[in-house]
Amino acid sequence: MSTPLSTPIDIMSDPNWWRQAVVYQIYPRSFADSGGDGIGDLKGITSRVNYLASLGIDAVWLSPFYPSALADGGYDVDDYRNVDPKLGTLADFDEMIGALHAAGLKLIVDIVPNHTSNRHEWFRQALAAGPGSAERNRYIFRDGKGPGGAEPPSEWPSYFGGSSWERVPDGQWYLHLFAKEQPDLNWDNREVRDDFLTTLRFWADRGVDGFRIDVAHHLVKDFSRPFPDRSALDLETLEHGQHPFADRDEVHDIYAEWRQVFNEYDPPRTAVAEAWVHASRRARYASPQGLGQAFNFDLLQSDFDAASFRRIITHNLTEARQSGASSTWVFSNHDVVRHATRYGLPKAASLASTGGEFQSGHAWLLSGGTSPELDVELGIRRANAATLLMLALPGSGYLYQGEELGLHEVGDLPADAMQDPTFFRSHGVEKGRDGCRVPLPWTIDGPSFGFGSAGAHLPQPAWFGPRSVQAEDDDPSSTLNLYRRALALRRKLQGGEALEWVDDLGDTVLHFRRPGGWESITNFGAEPVPLPPGVVLSSSPLNDETELPPDTTAWIS
Ligand code: NOJ
Repeated sequence: MSTPLSTPIDIMSDPNWWRQAVVYQIYPRSFADSGGDGIGDLKGITSRVNYLASLGIDAVWLSPFYPSALADGGYDVDDYRNVDPKLGTLADFDEMIGALHAAGLKLIVDIVPNHTSNRHEWFRQALAAGPGSAERNRYIFRDGKGPGGAEPPSEWPSYFGGSSWERVPDGQWYLHLFAKEQPDLNWDNREVRDDFLTTLRFWADRGVDGFRIDVAHHLVKDFSRPFPDRSALDLETLEHGQHPFADRDEVHDIYAEWRQVFNEYDPPRTAVAEAWVHASRRARYASPQGLGQAFNFDLLQSDFDAASFRRIITHNLTEARQSGASSTWVFSNHDVVRHATRYGLPKAASLASTGGEFQSGHAWLLSGGTSPELDVELGIRRANAATLLMLALPGSGYLYQGEELGLHEVGDLPADAMQDPTFFRSHGVEKGRDGCRVPLPWTIDGPSFGFGSAGAHLPQPAWFGPRSVQAEDDDPSSTLNLYRRALALRRKLQGGEALEWVDDLGDTVLHFRRPGGWESITNFGAEPVPLPPGVVLSSSPLNDETELPPDTTAWIS
């Protein structure tokens, strides 16, 4: 379909490869299915390495591929040092990483340390061994309140709806901040800490280049004081480090130990924290003594708006400088409504949806993708403009599979197809995250649009055909070819991690300059603005080389 670019030579040995890398997130069960069972697998990824290399990315981040009953899309891990048999074997993993490395691509895997699955050997042992046992002490078991301990130990809600406590047959309760199939581990237990060090070495020894750490801010809990009311759990209002189970200072002792493990390797293994913490607290996760980098989800939570983009960029670059890390940028991932869709909705609708990190486009999703009306083309146009801006920023950019095709969220999945626990635990009130996890379209037609030889584990809409890789491959104006051109140019133009704002085109335009004369200009306004000469790429066609139309980014060099 496409020819791989020549292998970048230095990225494989450069210890700083991650600082300005472009990382492509693969949600493995929805990427490519080689086995014909409707579920994406590791051999499917291996078969698409040429596609990944031809995109021009630097690394792949693989969401969990471990054995799992999929109570939470694989973030409920049964065994941290194995591959889900539905996705392949450890030998398939070795083959996949070999193919990625041969193509000059690094591999980051997801580590889920806050909770195991309820099918993990440890949790089975904990249930069998009973209250007070060493086996239970790997998790957080407590007696309940009220007569017979029949009420949960606290009224804390789980992130996925309902209580965060589940009762077991002998009457005790265990904590699960997410689904009840995801019991929280007890990180005060040395055995838990040592086991994760073994897991990190297990994958690093197999050649894994870095780790994405799931809810990195939740591991340490302090239950030495009575459980506070749920109203006292707001991270924004609590004094820093005082929350009983989020962003406690002691969590950094864990990551300092992990850093020692990362540094046993050459080049050192990298890590990026998923930490939903106050912006001022993010730097600690990103410090070189800790995980080294942390996601900032600020752009992902922002409307398509010049002032707020500028504020976020300035703030995060300052913060990154302070921590010694480089900044991260992300618009889409497996947890949020795709950015093409968010930007195609009226601003008021996306603003009304600021109820939490997974809530953008909330009203639209709740309506089954019908209301407010989605402007499909505007969404893609703005998403491409935003992505081009993002790819010109210093730091690393994280892309989510399918965004390079301009895919929208699938908003009309039927209830009987849903898989996300948020849908079930909220009794269908929430629609969940399945709409961004629908298997990728590779071909214009055929069974599951080339995802595999049979169906797809989530139903694909008819509009996936014209948005498939095959359809976009030969179309010079496609989003896919825009991404390819942008990533190839970025490699050439990328220099030091500096950015200088150029205030010459008004409040609704963001214009900045990078070292070496690379400039990016985005027009967020309603009128065209004048362009300097030297355009090398634009996110939408320019009518006239001298003017930048609305909702468009141009690169100048
Ligand atoms: C964050 C992950 O991105 C999300 O998909 C998952 O549901 C939660 N952590 C719990 O593991």
